[in-house]
Amino acid sequence: MAIRELKKKYDVEIHTGKIPMPKSLLVSRIREKDGLICYPYDSIDADVISAGTRLKAISTYSVGYDHIDVRAAQKRGIVVSYTPEVLTRATADLAMALLLDLSRRVTEGDEIIRRNKWNVIFGPYDFLGRDLYGKTLGIFGMGRIGQAVAKRAAGFEMKILYHNRRRVSPTLEKKLGARFVSLDELFRRSDVVSIHAPYTSQTHEIVNLKLLRKMKKTAFLINTARGKLVNEKDLAYALKKNIIAGAGLDVFQKEPISSSHPFAKMKNVIITPHSGSATIETRDVMAELAVKNLVLSLSGKKPIYQVRAQLGH
Ligand code: DGY
Repeated sequence: MAIRELKKKYDVEIHTGKIPMPKSLLVSRIREKDGLICYPYDSIDADVISAGTRLKAISTYSVGYDHIDVRAAQKRGIVVSYTPEVLTRATADLAMALLLDLSRRVTEGDEIIRRNKWNVIFGPYDFLGRDLYGKTLGIFGMGRIGQAVAKRAAGFEMKILYHNRRRVSPTLEKKLGARFVSLDELFRRSDVVSIHAPYTSQTHEIVNLKLLRKMKKTAFLINTARGKLVNEKDLAYALKKNIIAGAGLDVFQKEPISSSHPFAKMKNVIITPHSGSATIETRDVMAELAVKNLVLSLSGKKPIYQVRAQLGH
């Protein structure tokens, strides 16, 4: 186990209490520490960084690093590292799982049987989903995960459009069979839009009612990236008013959500508990990588994956 390796080299304190660790506790425990391993629900803001007067390295067990004030860390010479690549396939698989579930009503079918209502939907036209074949998938964010989703969707014979900060190379476009379009066009023309963009100040609530209104009434939205990319009130409104047909959401503005959250009450929404990278295999590799990154940074070497301010994922 990765943590055993770390314990061989360093004194390790593991937080075992409430998750996320309360900020006051984090601020007090960070004072004497040289390194920190954290997760997206830990907010490593300027207060935490300035409290860590000895801190030399922050290693996040995630591809996203929007929970870390990277600028504040860099100003102090603290090396920030992360775990991209290794969770690409798992996250893309979950996006496909949500896409398939929405299209073929898997969760809904399961619930119908458990409520003993199969007899009510027994007719040949009673419980219909939608084909993926020939449908258009719009990928917002053509980084590693977006590309992995494109490859998977090609297996389902979907057409692929994408929008990204920068257009990818023509060779990659050809390989993925993906066509670059504006964000508006992506939302207008897709049967399913799947979000794979990083969360930054530029992408804060970029998916709002104006954009959702451009979608087809039959379209689905999938988000396995970050909750704050979407204005949740606008999305709830669009779902309630049937402006779009449904959503598959693994991430939320404020996590964890409870069963009283509006999305948890909507029939046309499938929700999962931020489990994009949550497979046994992936989490093991992420842990090893997070530990390697930390050890390298603490010994003055370059970590395998370093975050630099202004870098996207
Ligand atoms: C990530 O890696 O950023 C995921 O959201 C958490 O595993």
